[in-house]
Amino acid sequence: MPKYKTALVTGGAGFIGSHVVDALIRRRIKVYVIDDLSTGSRKNLNPNATFYKISIVDQEAVTKLIARIKPDVVFHLAAQIDVRCSVENPSDDARVNILGTLNVAHACAKSGVKKFIFTSSGGAMYSDSVRPPYSEKTPEEPLSPYGIAKRSAEMYLDFEQRIHGMKYVILRLANAYGPRQALRGGYAGVISVFARQMLAGKKVVINGHGKQTRDYVFVSDIVRAHMLAMDKTVTGTFNIGTGIQTSVNSLFSKIKRLTGSKEKEVHGPVCKGEVMRSALDSHKAARELGWKPGVSLEEGLKKTVLWFKNI
Ligand SMILES: NC(=O)c1ccc[n+]([C@@H]2O[C@H](COP(=O)([O-])OP(=O)(O)OC[C@H]3O[C@@H](n4cnc5c(N)ncnc54)[C@H](O)[C@@H]3O)[C@@H](O)[C@H]2O)c1
Repeated sequence: MPKYKTALVTGGAGFIGSHVVDALIRRRIKVYVIDDLSTGSRKNLNPNATFYKISIVDQEAVTKLIARIKPDVVFHLAAQIDVRCSVENPSDDARVNILGTLNVAHACAKSGVKKFIFTSSGGAMYSDSVRPPYSEKTPEEPLSPYGIAKRSAEMYLDFEQRIHGMKYVILRLANAYGPRQALRGGYAGVISVFARQMLAGKKVVINGHGKQTRDYVFVSDIVRAHMLAMDKTVTGTFNIGTGIQTSVNSLFSKIKRLTGSKEKEVHGPVCKGEVMRSALDSHKAARELGWKPGVSLEEGLKKTVLWFKNI
């Protein structure tokens, strides 16, 4: 018997959220999804989930719905995910990522949700003034409004736990990639952008010199971290990454080989508000959640390119 019978997934029509929904449904948990479809798609939605097209910014609608469905466990993934948009328009980012998250979290605390799992960002949480990989003990120093909003949301969860007793797990993800990833959102989407453009025979532009590094985690490993966060009795914050840094230039070569693209490397302007290097130390997740990445970058890239070939 599963520990939880009902789950709410915000952002369940998005890239990671839709895979989390699928995993919950495979476990025969009743799933409700809130999504405004701003970047998500109905095509991603599992037909066995109950869908509500609501914005998390709409406090009244969110509060009423959560009070009615009273989910046992909540996965909060709905967010404005584009770092560059957050730099251009920090207020819009804060409206969704701080106020929207607080709307969901407070309604959940009031309705007696047993566990709240928040998908935060490890890539945007730490500054590269410190050498990666970053652990949960590395001081938080978000540089972009997106990172600042994710950190604020984490602090509100701490408030909801202290005052209302709502248990939470924060998963600070490295860069996720895999099937269903949209083409928007800074380096978060670099693999899907490269794969799709190269398969279409289009030119690919690398932002800046391309030596920027990120830690790439395949989506099935990310989903497993979410399931373990639900299953284990732990609470607190966990970094989810491989600890391996891969540069944009290296991704370019690997994806070029897999797609058979003939395009040459072209470099464009750098992006403001993004760190130059990043990787996460996940020893705490290994110890307390039993999580380790299982899919190598080579294997994950193959699966991703194959998926883009077939859509
Ligand atoms: N993709 C990554 O590399 C990565 C890394 C770290 C953290 N995250 C976090 O994981 C979560 C999921 O990201 P993703 O990559 O799947 O992106 P995504 O854009 O595919 O998913 C976000 C979903 O939230 C929905 N949404 C956006 N604003 C909303 C609103 N106001 N109300 C309701 N729904 C709204 C979108 O329609 C979309 O379906 C986000 O919280 C993101 O910050 C992602």
